Amino acid sequence: MTSSYTVQPAQQIAGRVRVPGDKSISHRALMLGAIADGDTAINGFLAGEDCLATLSALRAMGVTIAQDEASTVRVRGAGLRGLQAPQQVLDMGNSGTAMRLFAGLLAGQSFDSQLTGDSSLCQRPMNRVAEPLRLMGAEIDTRDGKPPLQVRGARSLHGIDYRLPVASAQVKSAVLLAGLYADGDTRVVEPAVTRDHTERMLKQFGVRLRRDAGAVILAGGQRLTASSVDVPGDLSSAAFFLLAASVGGAGELQIEHVGLNPTRTGVLRILELMGADLQIEECRKDAEPAGRITVRPAELQGIRVPPELVPLAIDEFPVLFVAAALAQGETQISGAAELRHKESDRIAVMAAGLRALGVQVDERPDGAVIRGGTLQRGVVDSGGDHRVAMAFAAGAVAAAGPVTIRNTANVATSFPGFAGLAREVDIALEEHDHGN
Ligand code: S3P
Repeated sequence: MTSSYTVQPAQQIAGRVRVPGDKSISHRALMLGAIADGDTAINGFLAGEDCLATLSALRAMGVTIAQDEASTVRVRGAGLRGLQAPQQVLDMGNSGTAMRLFAGLLAGQSFDSQLTGDSSLCQRPMNRVAEPLRLMGAEIDTRDGKPPLQVRGARSLHGIDYRLPVASAQVKSAVLLAGLYADGDTRVVEPAVTRDHTERMLKQFGVRLRRDAGAVILAGGQRLTASSVDVPGDLSSAAFFLLAASVGGAGELQIEHVGLNPTRTGVLRILELMGADLQIEECRKDAEPAGRITVRPAELQGIRVPPELVPLAIDEFPVLFVAAALAQGETQISGAAELRHKESDRIAVMAAGLRALGVQVDERPDGAVIRGGTLQRGVVDSGGDHRVAMAFAAGAVAAAGPVTIRNTANVATSFPGFAGLAREVDIALEEHDHGN
């Protein structure tokens, strides 16, 4: 099935909403719950296709998981050594997080497994995760560095001291998960701070973990104790609404109970540097901080995006590209080459989409220079990338005429119900299904 959106310019963006649960936290809650001792209750779980791929894979390895409601999940922990050999290839769909975290988790099991994914995922680099896992003693085959992955079990893993060549929370997490099955200490050093949901949740599940000068250190063999996880709304999903309400001309939008983990809030800091009017109230200081964001319209200005904020906003660049196109003056984005390895090559796909709407974009290997002004009416293709589709839909509220976004089916990977929620806040979005 393919589908598209058509969005009309908006008079105002207003309302009070919650966005679906955080994708990164939902994957981790399932995985840690599955290898814990006892039952883990997950509230606010994201029932998007990506996390459902993780859920199905764990069920295929014998884990009992009840989904009482879409966002309420109970996982019966199988214990550290309780996963069973899957009878089929594990399909991760579109999800890089599922594939890379499972690579780490499966490297320490006693059975063989195979991981595959859709055409986008099968183009994404996997050596970044296979290499450190091999250093730990794992045997992992790739197809020229890409999926499918064959993970051979019954290896005895040993801890390593590993400096990540790229800032990647997925790779850090894979090494830490494998570290649970390794002899001795596993130490991971990251070149820049990346999201720390794995570290926070491991601690919540009773794992002793030390942080020391940019390093995370974990002793192998530790058992996890089940916990209850309250997943806040996904700031990456909220970001589309932050953009729409900033450029929407009038109205006030409140986003409730959204994750405010400081390793994820780069988008807030960058939008504020651009002049966005955001009021941020932290209401919960838990394993994962959360709160309310109130957004009012503002005149955005072009900026040079500080490179140190890039890893803290890595999933929000589609939104930031569109914000830059609607800002006064030039925005320079650099140090963001990782964007070329996401669900699509986000630098190329965003540049093509913005150009289709009349924006001047100078594409660079590690970013872009965007000349802000207006978005013209037109048609863009998301390249099958959920976040690209939603970023254009959000920015279209401030375009000179209707914008059609093609290839939107993958929005369901991270944001089921996006079109309905958009309409709730006065975004005039029509969805069209085109069959196969
Ligand atoms: C994620 C980490 C990020 C991010 C992805 C989710 C995670 O990827 O882009 O959407 O849940 O760990 P990298 O760690 O590869 O940068």
